[in-house]
Amino acid sequence: MKLATGILFTEKQIRQRVEELAHQIDADYRGKPLILCAILKGSIPFLADLMRRLTGDVRLALLEMKSQVDGVHANILFTSTMDLSGQHVLIVEDIVDTGITLDYLIKHLEVERTPASIRVAAFLDKPEARKLDVPVHYRGFTVPDKFVVGYGLDWQERYRNLPYITWVESE
Ligand code: IMP
Repeated sequence: MKLATGILFTEKQIRQRVEELAHQIDADYRGKPLILCAILKGSIPFLADLMRRLTGDVRLALLEMKSQVDGVHANILFTSTMDLSGQHVLIVEDIVDTGITLDYLIKHLEVERTPASIRVAAFLDKPEARKLDVPVHYRGFTVPDKFVVGYGLDWQERYRNLPYITWVESE
C-alpha cells in the first residue's frame, strides 16, 4: 500500500468543519452538562480540536475499542470509570465504517452505564461500507469507500500525524 498523492480534506477545511460542529453541539446542549466519550486512538485530533471549541459544561471520558478481524464483533479494551449514569453522553469517533464498533458501544453504554442520552459525533462517515444501522448525529464529512488516513486515522498505526485527510492505495 502507498499513500495517495491527492488530499480529500485540507487542514483549513477540517478546521472550518470542526468549528461548525462545535457551534451545533454547543447550541444543542446549551444548559446541559455533557460528557464526551472519545474512542482512542483515532479520535484524538478531532477530540482535541472539538473540545477546545465547546463552551459549555464539558467533561471527558476515554475508552479504547478493538474492531475484531472477523468483521462481526467489537470489544472494549478499557474505559474510564467516570459515572455516566443519568448523564448526557456524546461519543466522539474518528470514522463510522461498517458501524459494528459503534453499534456495540451504544448497546453496551445503554445497558451497563445507563446515561440519560447518547449521541454520536463522527469526524468521518463512510456510508457505502455500512453493515449496521447506527445513528450519526454530528458528522464532519462523508467519504467514499477508500481506506482514509490522517488527522488521527491510521493504516497499520501510521499516518495518524498527517494534518489532512488522504487515503492509501495498492501499489
Ligand atoms: P467500523 O467498521 O464502523 O466498526 O469501524 C471501526 C474502526 O475501524 C474505526 O473507528 C476506525 O478506527 C477503523 N476504520 C474504519 N475505516 C477506516 C479507514 O478508512 N481508515 C482508517 N481507519 C478506519
